[in-house]
Amino acid sequence: MCEVITIANQKGGVGKTTTAVNLAAFLATSEKRVLFIDCDPQANATTAFGIRRNEVQIDAYHVLSGSKKISQVIIRLDEIPYLDLVPANIGLAGFEKDFYSKKNNGQTMLRNKIEEVKNNYDFIIIDSPPALGALTVNALVASDSIIVPIQCEFYALEGLAQLLNTVKVIKDTSNPDLSIRGFLPTMFVSQHNLSRQVLDDLSQHFGDKLFRHTKKREEYIIVPRNVRLAESPSFGKPILFYDAKSSGSIAYQNLAEFILEGA
Ligand SMILES: Nc1ncnc2c1ncn2[C@@H]1O[C@H](COP(=O)(O)OP(=O)(O)OP(=O)(O)O)[C@@H](O)[C@H]1O
Ligand SMILES: [Mg+2]
Repeated sequence: MCEVITIANQKGGVGKTTTAVNLAAFLATSEKRVLFIDCDPQANATTAFGIRRNEVQIDAYHVLSGSKKISQVIIRLDEIPYLDLVPANIGLAGFEKDFYSKKNNGQTMLRNKIEEVKNNYDFIIIDSPPALGALTVNALVASDSIIVPIQCEFYALEGLAQLLNTVKVIKDTSNPDLSIRGFLPTMFVSQHNLSRQVLDDLSQHFGDKLFRHTKKREEYIIVPRNVRLAESPSFGKPILFYDAKSSGSIAYQNLAEFILEGA
């Protein structure tokens, strides 16, 4: 069975792409067949996998607009054998416009397209843009679950109600099986009161939705602020091929182990 997971939070810069790329890379190195769909016109994930945006001629836009099959758009990543990529480039931004001018099938476009290839994969990981627009809605309608990265900073929980409401509307209308896989605290700095405060708030309100270490159940999985995580995209590499022993790498490995345990 294939599990489709979208990484989403309409807040910008909270660690969505970092989470999506590194989770996908760890799942693939565990020999799970992974398809990564970059659903963000910023194409940060595409770049993080070492593909230059200007090298991408056909991308997720062509899938979503119906002119190409997913199989025609996939890039195979030589360095990560079990991972295939549907890249993005800036043209994907056009999908929002098409959506509102009703030039396409709306919310279910990605779900329909994914059906064609679902049997070939154990996981499909979708990175989404910092907005609750047509791209994120398409990703959520196509997904079994959502992971929400939460940056351990001031305003961290602001906007969460709106995101949870969007998930509820999608559940009620087009995808009743959509579930929240969990909230992932990111950029945590243990010396900062604010980081600890955000984590306290999260564990109070959403304790059952925080990921837990598979070997030490009492510990939450928390992604620390780690410069190696910030550096690795500029080398076009997921963290485990850049600095596998870094604290950021270990956190994402723990997340992948949690996901694999429930798979
Ligand atoms: N744990 C971390 N430690 C240090 N830097 C991080 C960490 N996670 C992400 N970053 C850096 O913070 C920035 C934002 O992260 P990222 O691109 O993953 O967020 P995003 O939510 O995908 O952003 P956007 O909303 O623009 O798509 C990037 O420069 C990234 O390299
Ligand atoms: Mg991003």
